[in-house]
Amino acid sequence: MLKSVFTAVLATTLAFASTANAREPIVIKFSHVVADDTPKGRGALMFQKLVDERLGGQVKVEVYPNSTLFGDADELEALRAGKVQLLAPSLSKFDQYTKQLQVFDLPFLFDDLEAVKRFQKREKSRELLRSMAKHDIYGLAYWNNGMKQLSATRALHVPTDAQGLAFRIQPSPVIEAQFGAIGATSKKIAFGDMYQALQNGSVQGAENPWSNLASQRLDTVQSFITESNHGSLNYMLISNTKFWTSIPYQVRVQLESIIEEVSFAVNQEAEALNQKSREQIAAGGHSKLVTLTEAEREAWRAAMRPLWKTFEADIGADVIRAAQIVNRR
Ligand code: LMR
Repeated sequence: MLKSVFTAVLATTLAFASTANAREPIVIKFSHVVADDTPKGRGALMFQKLVDERLGGQVKVEVYPNSTLFGDADELEALRAGKVQLLAPSLSKFDQYTKQLQVFDLPFLFDDLEAVKRFQKREKSRELLRSMAKHDIYGLAYWNNGMKQLSATRALHVPTDAQGLAFRIQPSPVIEAQFGAIGATSKKIAFGDMYQALQNGSVQGAENPWSNLASQRLDTVQSFITESNHGSLNYMLISNTKFWTSIPYQVRVQLESIIEEVSFAVNQEAEALNQKSREQIAAGGHSKLVTLTEAEREAWRAAMRPLWKTFEADIGADVIRAAQIVNRR
């Protein structure tokens, strides 16, 4: 009797071990909306490469750029439904899950990308990575693109130059109010549809960092780009909480250490990549670049700064204050 119980236990153990050995790799589909040659696109490919080198056989990463798997309209729902396992949406796209991340959209709040990075290292920012936990959204890291520039069919030197123009925006109430504050209108349009909307004239302007302007060839449909640096475009690398926490501990620890390495590289190289894209656009000669004088920049700042107060209740005065103190001014 004892012998047969022992044999049965042994057989089960061996069967389990052989299933474990033959276990299919964990597949991580990483979907995003931009081109490969952007900070996010490069980050996704670097993550794929390092996972393949260090966890090959155990984890397989598939990267889907340019909205080829999911786009702005459906990627967050797809993540929550488990159809995709990693995304890095811009922080302007989380409005329905948390209001606090809109701090990153407040115009002229951060002096530059370095200030944004300093804020992301602080306690308040780290807390925001967990702000969507009840929606099954698990924040893993902040990735940055760059400072946003205004582009339009006419030269924008001062805020009144934008009056009457319609701008393509991401789905952020702060960004909507930002264009309202300068007498312009705005339309929420998916990133993948922006080029066409600018080309067919349904909107006349947009705001993008240089890398998105260049990789989407937006300079070919916008006559002017104002170097406004009025805000920044930042991402959160996210997974589905149930999926991420179901990954065996040893593997998860290694994945998180790869993410740390990739995030460091993405954030370190973002500025240089954007500068390269700026040079490409300047050399291309399609758009005329508009440089602001200090007084002109101050006029944009004065027009948009009241939004910090408007959105204080939604975002939290403590979060805005924590962001302000990372600036030098
Ligand atoms: C946008 O929609 O403009 C950006 O969020 C796109 C991106 O992911 O860089």
